[in-house]
Amino acid sequence: MMTQDEMKRSAAREAVNYLSEGDIVGVGTGSTADYFIQELSSWGGASGAIASSEITASRLRDCGIPVLSLNDTDSFGVYVDGADEINRNLEMIKGGGGALTREKIVAAVAEKFICIADETKVVDVLGTFPLPLEVIPMAGAYVSREVQKIGGEPTLRQGFLTDNGNVIIDIHGLTIDKAVELELELNGIVGAVTNGIFARRSADLLVYGTKNGVCTEYADSK
Ligand code: 5RP
Repeated sequence: MMTQDEMKRSAAREAVNYLSEGDIVGVGTGSTADYFIQELSSWGGASGAIASSEITASRLRDCGIPVLSLNDTDSFGVYVDGADEINRNLEMIKGGGGALTREKIVAAVAEKFICIADETKVVDVLGTFPLPLEVIPMAGAYVSREVQKIGGEPTLRQGFLTDNGNVIIDIHGLTIDKAVELELELNGIVGAVTNGIFARRSADLLVYGTKNGVCTEYADSK
């Protein structure tokens, strides 16, 4: 029986097949992304990487993969990252690891977003996983009240600061059936930096490990 970690690793291994020699590769954050870094290192074909967090940058450097600045990179082909939940439109909840803002920035620049996951992450409707919201620290109480007005239950992530020096509010109790609309609404709260809905820029391809092997899925519209 395949474990969840083995399914993550198999998806990470498969994702390398979508890369070309000399590519600059955007790299996400989390345990699935960590498996991808190992596979990227074994493959050896990337000319450099754009990191979505300090921890990912450090892991890439440890593997000898040059970490490039996004400000010095006009465009690059592929961003590979995990997700906390992903639906059949390839809209995601991300940010369980707290790296959502940099992940969203790197995803925005990439031509193609490949989400790597295990089968437990694939859902019909987003929202069982608490939705992370990165918030400027002084705005925490205000943003929490605004979140309650739209029906969410906010919880401050204890003892955690993002790479950008901000706090994370995890929003429980949402059923996210209109992901683009909710992403935009949360973006409109003053003091909120980024929310973990990746729907305006969803994934282009989902590669996910199952107990029976690796499956792929393209978004309908892509
Ligand atoms: C980090 C993320 C991760 O992609 C997400 O939390 C999934 O993590 P894992 O691969 O460890 O299951 O969004 O901010």
